[in-house]
Amino acid sequence: MSYVFDTYLHDDFLAFENCCVSDPAIDLLKLESFQGKLLDFACGHAPYLPILKGYSELTLLDKSAHLLGKARGTAEKLGLKNIRYINAQSENMPFADNTFDMVMSSFALGDVTSWRQTMNEVERIIKPDGIFILIDLIGGNNDFIYDLVQIADVIEGVQIGRESSEIWCFLISYLNSKARLLQYETFKLIYEFPSREKTKQLAEGLEIRMKSNPEVREAIHAYLDQKDSPYEIDSVYLKMKILKR
Ligand SMILES: C[S@@+](CC[C@H](N)C(=O)[O-])C[C@H]1O[C@@H](n2cnc3c(N)ncnc32)[C@H](O)[C@@H]1O
Repeated sequence: MSYVFDTYLHDDFLAFENCCVSDPAIDLLKLESFQGKLLDFACGHAPYLPILKGYSELTLLDKSAHLLGKARGTAEKLGLKNIRYINAQSENMPFADNTFDMVMSSFALGDVTSWRQTMNEVERIIKPDGIFILIDLIGGNNDFIYDLVQIADVIEGVQIGRESSEIWCFLISYLNSKARLLQYETFKLIYEFPSREKTKQLAEGLEIRMKSNPEVREAIHAYLDQKDSPYEIDSVYLKMKILKR
């Protein structure tokens, strides 16, 4: 089972992001050398902007003009140069074939309308042997958002068809056929909300964003009744080389 976000309630989203007190992906990204042309698609307000160094040109793409505006504000404050802002869908990115040396995306592949089409686009616009970095959620106690399973077996070769979400099945088969896995790390995002009331308020945003589904609603409420902040969200960092034919 997978859930589709209809749209982003932007200010709720940013309020939620501001409650993140620990994001080890920052340290992992700091170790990267972003040489050449870099694309961050579904970048939102581009939380990793301050640490993306070394690129010759950075392209930020999101379907939300509002969040791109926030990203632009941050870039201007930081005095960052050579950034293009593209308001478009990741399923149909307005770039020529073989444009980017590196493509990255964080916490978004499960949100886009079609991750298959998005991955086709990544494959098309990345240069031969280009690097793709995917940062995303996996199972753990964030099951109420996505029904994902741990993918630690990816490295050893996974059996597709076990209890897994469609998106991870797709990625696992992708990693077995169209990409070479270079690095795989798991980590936890830690969110601390100022109050239980605030948490419930953000959850209402989630309910609205998800296609109305009584099971999701029940799961969110059951979850909130059991657990208090801090919330730990199991996440994964995958670095892969895309193998183009
Ligand atoms: C959970 S946010 C992640 C944002 C950012 N990458 C981060 O790590 O905070 C998901 C983002 O995906 C964007 N998005 C959703 N569907 C999209 C699509 N089809 N094309 C482009 N962006 C999309 C949303 O506007 C939102 O900014």
